[in-house]
Amino acid sequence: MRTIVYTEPGSPDVLHLVDRDIPTPGPGEVRVRVVVSAVNPTDWKSRQNGTVEFPEVTPNQDGAGVVDALGDGVSTLEVGDRVWTYLSARNRPTGTAQEYTVLPAERVVKLPAGTSFDVGATMGVPAMTAHRALTVLEGGPDRLHAGALDGRVVLVAGGAGAVGHAAIQLARWAGATVITTISSDEKAELARRAGAHHVVNYRTEDTAAVVKAIAPDGVDIVVEVSIVQNADLDADVVGQRAVVSMYADDGGATAELAVRPNMSKNTRYQFVLLYTIGETAMRAAVEDVTEALIAGALPVGEAAGLPLVRFPLAETAAAHQAVQDSVTGKVLIDIGDTTSAG
Ligand SMILES: NC(=O)c1ccc[n+]([C@@H]2O[C@H](COP(=O)([O-])OP(=O)(O)OC[C@H]3O[C@@H](n4cnc5c(N)ncnc54)[C@H](OP(=O)(O)O)[C@@H]3O)[C@@H](O)[C@H]2O)c1
Repeated sequence: MRTIVYTEPGSPDVLHLVDRDIPTPGPGEVRVRVVVSAVNPTDWKSRQNGTVEFPEVTPNQDGAGVVDALGDGVSTLEVGDRVWTYLSARNRPTGTAQEYTVLPAERVVKLPAGTSFDVGATMGVPAMTAHRALTVLEGGPDRLHAGALDGRVVLVAGGAGAVGHAAIQLARWAGATVITTISSDEKAELARRAGAHHVVNYRTEDTAAVVKAIAPDGVDIVVEVSIVQNADLDADVVGQRAVVSMYADDGGATAELAVRPNMSKNTRYQFVLLYTIGETAMRAAVEDVTEALIAGALPVGEAAGLPLVRFPLAETAAAHQAVQDSVTGKVLIDIGDTTSAG
C-alpha cells in the first residue's frame, strides 16, 4: 500500500511516499481503508517539533474511510462500515495519510447514513475540541443536543477557522445565540454560512462595544483561539460565571489576565487540549457529534462556511505546508475510491 512516513522531525520535506505491506489488525483493533485524510495544525506541529518515537510515523490524526478488517474481540463495527477516525496517530505511528491504517476500535466511529467522507474527516480534532469548549460552563450542559444551549450566548473567536467553524455549527445546533469574530469580509461571509447570528470584524470594528450591544447581559461561553490577543476583550464581554475555553497556545506565548474584572464576574478559564480531555469527555464528544451529524448540522464546503482545499496523497507535504501557512478552510488529502464501500 502507499503510505506517507517520516523518520525524523522537520520541515514538510521529511514526508516521503513509500510502499509498505497492508497491516493486520490485532486484538481490539480494526483496519480502515482510508478514503480521505484531513490535516490539522497539530499534525504539522507534531511533525516539525515532536519526537519520533517509532521507526517511522505516518502523520494525520483525522480521516474517514471504510472498515476493511476486524481484529479479535471487536463487536462494535463490521467490515464495510463507513467510519471517521480520531486521534489516529496519538501514541501510535498509524496516522491517516495512507491507504490503510489500523486503529483501536474506540477511535473508529460509524458515519451516519448519508454523511460524506469529507464531513467525517473533518470531525476529529475540530469538532471534538469545539464540543469540549462548549461543555465546560458552570451550570451549563456537559452534553450537547438540540436545545442544550437555549438562552446562552456563545462568542467564537475566529469563526472562519476549522475549530471556530465547528464551534459555530455545534453552538447553533444546540440553540445558542452565536457571535463570532473574523478579520476580513471573505471570512465574515464564511462565518455567516456556518450559521453565526452576528459577525464582528475584530480588525475594523470596536469588538467589545458590538458584542456588548448584542449581549448586554454578557457572553456565557467564549471559544477562544488567541487568549494572548483577546484576554481583555473576553474579560470585558463575558457575563457572570462565564467560561473562556482556550484551545490554542498562541505559539507558546504567555497570556496576561486582568484579575479584578475577572474576579468580579467569577469568570472561569478552562484550558482545552483534546489529547488529554479524558475518556468521559471523549465519548461524550463522539456521541454528541454523531447526533449532530444525524441532524445534518455539521456540513463542510464553501457553501457551509468551510472551503475544502484538496491534495493527492503524493502531495501530503504540500498539504501540510498549506495548513502551516494558515490557508482558509480545511485541507483534505484524497486517498481512496469514494464511491465503493468495499
Ligand atoms: N487544544 C486543542 O486540542 C486544539 C485543537 C485544535 C486546534 N488547536 C489549535 O488551535 C489553533 C487553531 O486551529 P484551527 O485548526 O482552527 O486553525 P485555522 O483553521 O487556521 O483557524 C484559526 C483561525 O483563528 C483566527 N484568528 C487568529 N487570531 C485571532 C484573533 N486574535 N481573534 C480572532 N480570530 C483569530 C484565524 O483567522 P485570522 O488570523 O484571519 O483572524 C483563523 O481563522 C491552532 O493553533 C491549533 O494548533 C488546538
